[in-house]
Order: sequence, then structure tokens, then C-alpha cells
Amino acid sequence: MKVPDIIIAIDGFSSTGKSSLAKKVAAKFGFLYLDSGALYRGVTLFAQEESLINRVNMVNPALKEALKGLDLHFGPDGKLCMGPRCIEQQIRSMEVSGQVSPIAAVPYVREWVDEKLHEFGRKGRIVMDGRDIGTAVFPDAQLKIFMTASEQVRAQRRYDELVAKGESPLLEEVVQNLRERDYIDSHRETAPLRRAEDAFELDNSDMTFEEELAWVQGLIQGKFGIL
Ligand code: CDP
Repeated sequence: MKVPDIIIAIDGFSSTGKSSLAKKVAAKFGFLYLDSGALYRGVTLFAQEESLINRVNMVNPALKEALKGLDLHFGPDGKLCMGPRCIEQQIRSMEVSGQVSPIAAVPYVREWVDEKLHEFGRKGRIVMDGRDIGTAVFPDAQLKIFMTASEQVRAQRRYDELVAKGESPLLEEVVQNLRERDYIDSHRETAPLRRAEDAFELDNSDMTFEEELAWVQGLIQGKFGIL
């Protein structure tokens, strides 16, 4: 199936499986996959390491200037790097998850990330996932998907992922983190999480991964008239 040079935007709540689906769709159609959340997580790790965010999530305004010297990029394996360091594992920790939404609510952080996303996405043929891709970053994306799933399913998925990586979180702590992030992400002033009017909604609470893929494929075939 030959898909035209479109931009596919996948937005939605925490732990709905956006990145797994986005990666698979990108691999299947020869697109580039871009994980916008990884950049917000990278900025959060940077702010933590530079002591520019405190325990009660107060962000030091010096972060704005400090971002000018921050080098975040994706390595050839798609993993996030900070300068020469691969930070993929660290950015997925509960510590980073606990502070990423307050950082992502800061308008100059969003501007910094948006600029990077546009730079990376310049050539088209991309699948990008996040919270505001179809509404703010690429509002003209030709295909927009908005993902949801029940809280219980999402929390269990994220818990299993963390355990598989060797962390030992409490399920309750994971649930709390999802709730907090969803709340902050949907209520912030700049580019809040919401479904774009022209986005197709995918609730995958009771779907297998194969069913999800078939759903996306059907959507692409229908929308772009591909056999
Ligand atoms: O994978 P998970 O659902 O945990 O989240 P993520 O995609 O890694 O994003 C982490 C956080 O970054 C989100 O909770 C948002 O606060 C922020 N984010 C955002 O504000 N806008 C985006 N386009 C992507 C992520």
C-alpha cells in the first residue's frame, strides 16, 4: 500500500499506546516516527539536573536562557540523546514523569519544542505523537487520530512497562501520575490537550494491537482512496 507524503498526527491521553501505534504505522509505511513527549521529558531531565525545577514544581525562569545551550536530538536508533549521552531510559522514569507536565505547561518550553518538531518534520512523511500535534504543531496534518482508553487499562499498561524496565512503582502511584498529567495537560493555557475537530477517535480499551493497526490502515485506505 503506497501512502502519499502526509503528516499523521496521533494525540491523546497518557499511556493510551500512542507511541506503540505511531512506531508501527511509521515502520509499515516507511514514515519517520517522532515522539514529541520525549522532548518534553528531555527538557524535564535537563531542568532537574540543572536544579531549575524544585520539589514543588516551581520552574526557575533561568530555564529559558539555559535552553539555548541544550542539545536534544534523536539518535539513529530513535532514542533521545542529550549531547553525547543517550537519555532514553532516564526520561521514562517516574521521577521525570512526576514533573514533565508542569514543565510542558511553560509557554517558552513549548516554543522551544515546537521549533525542534518543525525542524525534524520538515521533510514530511512523518508520524508524530503527543498532546497538541493535530491542534497546534501541525494543524494541517492530513490525518489526525485521537486516542483514549479507560484509566484502568492505561494504568496497568504503564505499570507493566515500568516493571519490565526494572522499576518497582506502586500501581496507585502510577494511577495518580496519569490523573495528574491528564489534568494539567488538558487544563493548561497554552496548547491544551483536546481532540481536534477533524480527528478520528480511537478508544482501544478493548482492542488488540492488530485490531488497532487494521483500524488505522482502513482509515488511510478510505481517506486517501488507496486499495
Ligand atoms: O507516554 P506518555 O503518555 O506517558 O507521555 P509522553 O507522550 O511521553 O508525554 C509526556 C508529557 O509531555 C505529557 O504528559 C505532557 O505533559 C507533555 N507533552 C505535551 O505537553 N505535548 C506534547 N505534544 C507531548 C507531550
